[in-house]
Amino acid sequence: MMMDFTTGSFSSTLYQGDCFDVLRTLPDNSVDLIVTSPPYADQRKSTYGGIHPDRYVEWFTPTAIELLRVLKPTGTFILNIKEKVVNGERHTYVLQLILRMREVGWLWTEEFMWHKKNSHPGKWPNRFRDNWERLLQFNKEKQFAMYQDAVMVPMGKWAESRLRNLSETDKRRDNSRVGSGFGKNVSKWVGRDMAYPSNVLHMATETSNKNHSAAFPLELPSWFIKLFTVEGDLVLDPFMGQGTSCVAATQLQRNSIGIELNEEYYGLACSNVDNTFKQSPTYGQPSLFSVLNESHGLTE
Ligand SMILES: C[S@@+](CC[C@H](N)C(=O)[O-])C[C@H]1O[C@@H](n2cnc3c(N)ncnc32)[C@H](O)[C@@H]1O
Repeated sequence: MMMDFTTGSFSSTLYQGDCFDVLRTLPDNSVDLIVTSPPYADQRKSTYGGIHPDRYVEWFTPTAIELLRVLKPTGTFILNIKEKVVNGERHTYVLQLILRMREVGWLWTEEFMWHKKNSHPGKWPNRFRDNWERLLQFNKEKQFAMYQDAVMVPMGKWAESRLRNLSETDKRRDNSRVGSGFGKNVSKWVGRDMAYPSNVLHMATETSNKNHSAAFPLELPSWFIKLFTVEGDLVLDPFMGQGTSCVAATQLQRNSIGIELNEEYYGLACSNVDNTFKQSPTYGQPSLFSVLNESHGLTE
């Protein structure tokens, strides 16, 4: 099943099916950004199936090869993943997957950390609560599209305290005495309001208003969409769940493609994306929600 949502200037196409099968129908070099969170190894088995950690790399490899084919040479792939604990040890399937990704042609260019600001407290005998997940960045080429100014952050307290204490020498960019480069680097930011962020993203999970047990917070795909695409570009989420990446892309006036295996989550994604299009200032064409309604028995 496939649904198209459009305002005339940009669109979202949502497929229900196995992403490997759907990806094979997409053209080469057509996607600007892939942002996704596949099912984790064996986790959440009760809700949408899991893959045994020992089989994870073999399971993901054919999809990784298709994703490489559909991504533009200037594009980026952000993969949200975290290894689970098996028999008291962190399993190594994520590390093995990174090596396999490189073998099939991906460059492992960067790793962001998603610090989950609001994770639940807990007590475990030999570890503390897991408060972060990996956001692995892969590219096809070393030169890729990146719009760093789009994610600048206010200097805030760092500027107030750190820059106020800079010596006059530091401000004149004199590094000759210590040679550390600190003064030279920091002095550039005197008088500025905005700075570039780090590769640690502090974002709360959003579970209260979500119907999918592992949905992204909206700000997570939004951040990467702003960093790696411009309006009119194409964003792909091959494991879209309730469609958060496609909602974010729509809000930011990017085109999107989402793929979801589970019928219920697919229906939710269609509903969420449809509602987002309806809120778009340029929305003017008839809603396609009625088509979905007929086949899924959903109500607005
Ligand atoms: C971690 S969730 C993604 C949640 C999503 N980021 C969101 O914000 O809602 C992974 C999703 O992948 C779906 N899935 C599992 N295997 C799939 C496959 N082979 N093709 C497409 N979707 C699949 C699951 O049903 C699940 O909804």
